[in-house]
Amino acid sequence: MRLFTLKELLAQTRSNGFAVGAFNFNNYEDAQAIVNAAISQNAPVILMASSGAIKYMGLHQLYHMVLGIAEVSTVPICLHLDHGTDVDLIKKAIDIGFPSVMIDASRHAYADNIAITSEISHYADEHNCSVEAELGKVGGKEEDIVVADNADVLTDPEDVIPFIQQTNIDALAVAIGTVHGFYKKDPNLDFARLEKIAGITDCPLVLHGGSGLTDDEFKKCISLGIQKVNVGTELKSGFSNTLRQMSEKLSSDEFDPRCFMKPVKDAVTAIVEHKLQVFGSDGKAQLYIE
Ligand code: G3H
Ligand code: ZN
Repeated sequence: MRLFTLKELLAQTRSNGFAVGAFNFNNYEDAQAIVNAAISQNAPVILMASSGAIKYMGLHQLYHMVLGIAEVSTVPICLHLDHGTDVDLIKKAIDIGFPSVMIDASRHAYADNIAITSEISHYADEHNCSVEAELGKVGGKEEDIVVADNADVLTDPEDVIPFIQQTNIDALAVAIGTVHGFYKKDPNLDFARLEKIAGITDCPLVLHGGSGLTDDEFKKCISLGIQKVNVGTELKSGFSNTLRQMSEKLSSDEFDPRCFMKPVKDAVTAIVEHKLQVFGSDGKAQLYIE
């Protein structure tokens, strides 16, 4: 299959009452594990590459690896640049063929966020690439992006319509109390704020900081209008913990990396399979296949 744009994947979500899972990957095993889960659940899926993952793997190599995975996939896959802050890198990703990017200019003042987001939105539009942007600031730490605990961060519903109209984006990341990385205290989600935002716009809404939320919290957010859910840290943790266990289990003269990596991949697949079920996206791949 070809790669799908974010706009295409999110076009089916609101009317069918589910969210598409978006998962960060950092290597081939991650990417394959995520897609294996999507195939087993017959679900559409979004593979997200952060700037750090692109630096680690190489833009060209990463793009063509995912293209190869998608070509033999039986479910729709979108490749998405996550939390892009470097306009040049985002444009390079669009040039090479990414069907979706996130411009994260949320650390800037509102007017500058609009200006930077609009620049990417115009560029992406000419290349059939979707754009996600962030309004408010999702808390915690996502690679180089750190938001202080006491920052005034939540998305102001008053800003939503002018932001979407002026930037012409395809998806909006909202700050409703979720946090990147593991939660240091129980999540305190502002469901009323989410409901209000979903009530005033048809623009698909994105939930960041999915690691550590309960199944019920996900389901409630989706019922109130979330159409894309991002999960990263939980996969990194599942990957590393399983790799540690394998290192302890296997004898010291075992040197075939596949003996270590197959259980690691299976652990990541199991995490993603569960999320896809919670998000209600299992069985939804057919919606995209003519
Ligand atoms: O953009 C990435 C996500 O928001 C991941 O957040 O690592 O807390 O799951 P998480
Ligand atoms: Zn995020």
